[in-house]
Amino acid sequence: MAQTKTILRALAGETLPTPPIWMMRQAGRYLPEYRATRAEAGDFLSLCYNSDLAAEVTLQPIRRYGFDAAILFADILLLPQALGADLWFVTGEGPRLSTTTTPEGLRALKPADAIHEHLAPVYETVRILSRELPSETTLIGFAGAPWTVATYMIAGQGTPDQGPAHALKAADRATFQGIIDLLTESTILYLSEQIKAGAEVVKIFDSWAGSLEGQDFIDFAVKPAARITKALKDIHPDVPVIAFPRGAGERYAGLHAAIGADCIALDDGVTPEWAAAHVQTGGCVQGNLASSHMVTGGETLVQETRRVVDAFSKGPHIFNLGHGITPDANPENVQLMIDTIRNGK
Ligand code: CP3
Repeated sequence: MAQTKTILRALAGETLPTPPIWMMRQAGRYLPEYRATRAEAGDFLSLCYNSDLAAEVTLQPIRRYGFDAAILFADILLLPQALGADLWFVTGEGPRLSTTTTPEGLRALKPADAIHEHLAPVYETVRILSRELPSETTLIGFAGAPWTVATYMIAGQGTPDQGPAHALKAADRATFQGIIDLLTESTILYLSEQIKAGAEVVKIFDSWAGSLEGQDFIDFAVKPAARITKALKDIHPDVPVIAFPRGAGERYAGLHAAIGADCIALDDGVTPEWAAAHVQTGGCVQGNLASSHMVTGGETLVQETRRVVDAFSKGPHIFNLGHGITPDANPENVQLMIDTIRNGK
């Protein structure tokens, strides 16, 4: 049957007259209805593990804006928690984890195939969504990339420069590589299970890929993503993969082939004109309006939205922000962005 969902058409390489749209963190604190449901759940992690409420917040931005895709509501740090790490969120600060930095610590984690019981509520959220989403809306599953998840497991929190992970990589390569390998294998199983539950596309978030230099970028950003993509395609050959090595800069060129991904997601550290010439030549791209425009709005938002649409108009493109929408964004600016893309406003 010919594919009718616009995101799947773009991912198959089709150039569409109007790009399909979704936003990273589209279910989030900028929406009053999200804040209300989160309060009902109690806290962020309780929301992630409550399948009905997680499905509800996933659907909220679809109802409000009619995005072309819904992204499963969960977090990249649920996977290390399933492997046995402690995880909690400090309000106003972000995630905290028990650290894994030694051979004993690595051995104390569970094997990759032991994650499913802990993650069962996430798979249930996917099943609810695949029943309840409008027929034209694509359901995207996701996981963090091994390097990005490892940076949190090693430091026990977010870090500006991923210093502790770089230090372990230099000091105890075997333990570092062991963490990457465990995350790579468990991510394959996690994403495969999301696909079995109904995810139609999967995205690999490598938020901190940009801090990997030289051969490290190949070994710890490109290779794990390529291994995950290949393993998924062996089991689910028709399910597209989006890779998001944020901060890759000029190294975005050639990544479709190097990773084997159907789509490369771009942050706003590269211009759309450069990316059209050097990345979109390899296949579908996603991105890359700076999320700050969702805060500031106005004529600049309209012009920069048009600029992204125009730059990528000659090839397959999924419109998105360059990073997640922030809590201080104005919901009206999101509507203005969508109207600009869909109605040429
Ligand atoms: O895009 C989506 O809406 C889908 C759900 C999703 C969340 N996090 C929900 C979330 C996805 C895909 C993520 C990915 C994620 N989580 C990444 C990679 C992408 C990126 O943003 O770089 C990372 C690094 C994390 C880890 C994480 N989760 C951090 C560092 C934080 C705290 C920062 C913050 O924004 O508060 C979170 C919390 C988080 N994950 C929130 C949401 C909606 C905010 C939680 C809240 O409601 O308080």
